[in-house]
Amino acid sequence: MTVVAIDGPAGVGKSTVARRVAAELGVPYLDTGAMYRAVAWKALEDGLDPADESAMEELIGRIKFELRIREAEADVVVDGFAPGASLRTPRVDAATSRVAVHPRVRSWLVARQREFAAREGAVVEGRDIGTVVFPETRYKFYLDAPLEVRTERRLRQLGGLDADDRESLRRQIQARDKRDRQRRASPLRHDASYEMIDTSTGAADQIAARILASVRAAVAAAER
Ligand code: DC
Repeated sequence: MTVVAIDGPAGVGKSTVARRVAAELGVPYLDTGAMYRAVAWKALEDGLDPADESAMEELIGRIKFELRIREAEADVVVDGFAPGASLRTPRVDAATSRVAVHPRVRSWLVARQREFAAREGAVVEGRDIGTVVFPETRYKFYLDAPLEVRTERRLRQLGGLDADDRESLRRQIQARDKRDRQRRASPLRHDASYEMIDTSTGAADQIAARILASVRAAVAAAER
């Protein structure tokens, strides 16, 4: 079973690359950020404070949370409803990095991530995939790029905003990075077991090709 872990900060281009790698390897793609976002989205829908640990623990105890495969991707479904694009608003962005600090929320989602990948392997994207969720996998990639490059990428995704928006977006990404890196439970980090990739220098298909070449070389070496 092949599990490819792709970690890195916000706006680094992980999703595009991870989707391509999954399609080439013929395994499903799992965006674990969407799982944390779905919990944050549901908290906001229910008028709860994402920073309130016991409210979040109560929330995960009562919701029905499913990962439904659609076109080789896992769609997150909460109480029968797929929030889809509603997971990508700035309000949900900010709430998600608050929800993601709670250890019980993390372990509950991590169990689902492991269950999902155990079926037929997966390309799994997130912040702690190679450190906590699948530390034993040999295929770990850490994607990184300077904050300015990541801000520009997000700006393009949002359809090009003006200079004030650029500054506010830059600050939002910086704040999220800080929370992701400094939280006590499974902070964003990498170690020597990762292959490091700077995404500011190559297009997504070149980066995907590099990851595929590494995975295939490792598979071939293991078979020799
Ligand atoms: O990758 P993303 O922007 O969709 O992630 C949303 C938030 O969820 C981000 O603040 C980090 C958090 N996250 C996490 O803590 N662990 C993961 N495995 C994936 C995302």
